[in-house]
Amino acid sequence: MNVLIVGSGGREHALAWKIAKSSHVDKIYCAPGNAGIEEYAECVPIGVLDFDALVAFAKEKEIGLTVIGMDDPLVAGIVDAFEAAGLRVFGPGKAAAILEGSKAFSKDLMKKYHIPTAAYENFDDPEKALAYLETAKFPIVLKADGLALGKGVLICNTLEEAKEGVKEIMEDKKFGAAGNQMVIEEFLTGREVSVLSFVDGNTVRIMTSAQDHKRAGDGDTGLNTGGMGTFSPSPFYTKEVDDFCQKYIYQPTVDAMRAEGRTFKGIIFFGLMLTADGPRVLEYNARFGDPEAQVVIPRMKNDIVEVMEACIDGTLSQIDLQFEDNAAVCVVLASDGYPVKYEKGFAIEGLDTVKEKESEGYYVFHAGTKREDGKIVTNGGRVLGVTAKGPDLKTARANAYRATEWITFANKYMRHDIGKAIDEA
Ligand code: AMP
Ligand code: GLY
Repeated sequence: MNVLIVGSGGREHALAWKIAKSSHVDKIYCAPGNAGIEEYAECVPIGVLDFDALVAFAKEKEIGLTVIGMDDPLVAGIVDAFEAAGLRVFGPGKAAAILEGSKAFSKDLMKKYHIPTAAYENFDDPEKALAYLETAKFPIVLKADGLALGKGVLICNTLEEAKEGVKEIMEDKKFGAAGNQMVIEEFLTGREVSVLSFVDGNTVRIMTSAQDHKRAGDGDTGLNTGGMGTFSPSPFYTKEVDDFCQKYIYQPTVDAMRAEGRTFKGIIFFGLMLTADGPRVLEYNARFGDPEAQVVIPRMKNDIVEVMEACIDGTLSQIDLQFEDNAAVCVVLASDGYPVKYEKGFAIEGLDTVKEKESEGYYVFHAGTKREDGKIVTNGGRVLGVTAKGPDLKTARANAYRATEWITFANKYMRHDIGKAIDEA
């Protein structure tokens, strides 16, 4: 079968790498892809929101399965467009992708179905939001309703900051139409954990846990980014936490979506906060995390195409999802200045050194790269994700940092404390 992957980041590179190992796959295409994905897939310059062109391409190349990596096309209804054309596609339809596409929707869903989350109110009128803040407790969290590249969340310590935040989101429209509505919610403290799952509409199968580091600087300082590194599993995700989440969060979410007539098939990413009062849902995403995928997928034992097909066919209950009994750490190599201002076009050296050690558990996933005059050059803020495995988290972390030394490019920047939290576990 031929497979088409939609997306162009480190997550899609990890997906392409894993899909290439499937015994069911003949040829892989990726739209638009990047210089790393080229090793496994023929990259085609079609935009991820150009549904007509993507559907036409899938028909022409007799694609048997299309895998959507990114949130934007999912929320915009790419799965509906493919299904209407009679094509098989992995991911939630538009009605279900709203779980990520609207934070106001997901909060109301959790309230209605008693899924534990932070206390909140939704607003579509800035005056009402401002009035609400007058009696609120601080810190408080403001969230633009829609997709905002992971940047639409503001944690405000004072009334003044929060008022300014409401203005930015709802009046200045700093995050565009994503700010037509907003959620104001209680500030929670605790460990964050990312739990990804496969869902077939009824059954949910949890993958191994992970943790992301969203801030740009060491010690969780600086601006929020798409993610500067991850580790898996999270030592804070204990059996007790898992039992609680299975009972009160995972299956209840899938059942709630079905009850709402929004049957979810694909990936649900549960962003959890492990508070002193138990786990709470911070957010849902409708796709693999990036860079969570870069530590979770390399540890997955199953043929991923079989699992994706089981989600589409509603037979996930027959799949025994298995992960290696080890650990992985991914350190993102970025361009200095990310996420604000950075230069592109610098030649990258040392990629082959990592590639040669794949059998020892070293991987490099491209995020923002392209090929120029036969050389691979930087082409984004997040450039590469260097992943290493190890028998335990400490070894995996040491391995990942060793591998970051093998790769060089001008303005290379990384955090030096990815996975440091595990020392406290
Ligand atoms: P989200 O996009 O909803 O995951 O929010 C982005 C980040 O903001 C999360 O990863 C948390 O670090 C933080 N965050 C979101 N909601 C809350 C909350 N209610 N309390 C504390 N931190 C939060
Ligand atoms: N790494 C967080 C996300 O993919 O949303």
